[in-house]
Amino acid sequence: MVIFGGAGDLAWRKLLPALCMAHLHQRLPNDCRIIGVGRHNWTRDDYVAFVDKTSRSHVGGDALDRDAWASFLARLDFVSLDATVADGYQRLRAACRSGATKVFYLATAPSLFTDICRHLDEAQLIDANARVVLEKPLGHDLPSAQAINEAVARHFSEKQIYRIDHYLGKETVQNLMVLRFGNAIFEPLWRAPTIKSVQITVSETVGVGTRAGFYDHTGAMRDMVQNHLLQLLCIVAMEAPISLDPDDVRDEKLKVLRSLRKFELADVLRDTVRGQYTAGVVDGAQVKGYLDEADVPAGSQTETFVAIKAQVHNSRWAGVPFFLRTGKRMLKRQSEIIIEFSEPPFSIFAGEPSQAHPNRLIITLQPEESIQLQMMAKEPGSGMKMRPVFLNLDLQSAFTERRAEAYERLLIDVIKGRLTHFMRRDELEAAWRWADPILEGWQQLGERPKTYPAGSWGPAAASALVAREGAVWFEAQ
Ligand code: BG6
Repeated sequence: MVIFGGAGDLAWRKLLPALCMAHLHQRLPNDCRIIGVGRHNWTRDDYVAFVDKTSRSHVGGDALDRDAWASFLARLDFVSLDATVADGYQRLRAACRSGATKVFYLATAPSLFTDICRHLDEAQLIDANARVVLEKPLGHDLPSAQAINEAVARHFSEKQIYRIDHYLGKETVQNLMVLRFGNAIFEPLWRAPTIKSVQITVSETVGVGTRAGFYDHTGAMRDMVQNHLLQLLCIVAMEAPISLDPDDVRDEKLKVLRSLRKFELADVLRDTVRGQYTAGVVDGAQVKGYLDEADVPAGSQTETFVAIKAQVHNSRWAGVPFFLRTGKRMLKRQSEIIIEFSEPPFSIFAGEPSQAHPNRLIITLQPEESIQLQMMAKEPGSGMKMRPVFLNLDLQSAFTERRAEAYERLLIDVIKGRLTHFMRRDELEAAWRWADPILEGWQQLGERPKTYPAGSWGPAAASALVAREGAVWFEAQ
């Protein structure tokens, strides 16, 4: 496993801890070695010391055992090279055992992907067994994504390319497929008009932190919506694939992406909201506004919040709004999908003192994983007073097995050659085809993002967006 960007944030925060967990649970092949690659003029010992200092606290419980941690560190190696210069790749070749299956994880800026793939090829490091993992965001619009795909395809076949979206590695996201296609009761209801609307919210309490250099020219639309939220939408909206074969699943997701309504300028104006956080209080602590964060350029117009009304133009979903929302520095860390069902066509309880609420299926991805079905029940006592109650599936207590983190599961998939939870080229390009007109529309309109105080649910305009469709965001109930 060769990690380009081996000393970067993603490597020490996520990838190495994930590999360590896989190691501790005997999920890595015995002879698997992990080679960090970076520009630092480091020896192997320097790298091990760096990983020891940075990654250890990111590895959960049992990893704290000294010997176990040491046995993980023993797998590490480091090759110092500048990704844009051919020389270093011979050193990398010398560090790789001949005949070993090689996984190249490109945890670098996408602008380096082309050079890295070309140099790997020239140094004869790519054989039929090699795999390459590409981190998101892949490009900043359709043409740049196509250029990267084109360049990588010169050196790797599509079956060797793993475009990672770590949301696809989350247990509850994979569970969504089982919920939909492993239970007969939902399928007949899973469509318009029985389903009235779908809400997908990924809210975070963290701010931009030390990542402004990356974030300020990316923004929430490219960082979260174009990939994570659209992938969630695809799994909610797709037809049953004919099998779990990677291409069968990805064919169905592609059809959803291709059915998404295309945004004209008027739609951008009406059906999207972009926001930017100002100073406020999150989890009891005073925090800065986006414009005061380190390395954010003065007057930046980058959005840290997006709300969009999307629509899937096909016969299953005609007329059903899909409300997507994500933001940093929000009130709570919460990722959830709410399927709201239509009200009964006629209510015999209309004159009663309590009001019926629509049924809702609430799928919480994090912080706790759960699936709840909100139903109406009669309050005990005389009269017919109703109250919403929940059928509750607490996945945490239903399964006591260890639940691996998304990156661990996906890295094991790469090692085993399983492509189902990775994006195919045409899927990625279809996602950009949908996102680009929105990004261009915002630019054309030239409006500043609407402000929202840190520790809130985003700009008021986001509530107005759903209110126009007769809906409210779930937490506002
Ligand atoms: C990443 C984004 O892809 O996902 C980050 O670049 C974001 O900005 C993160 O914080 C959220 O992931 P998770 O798993 O914590 O919900």
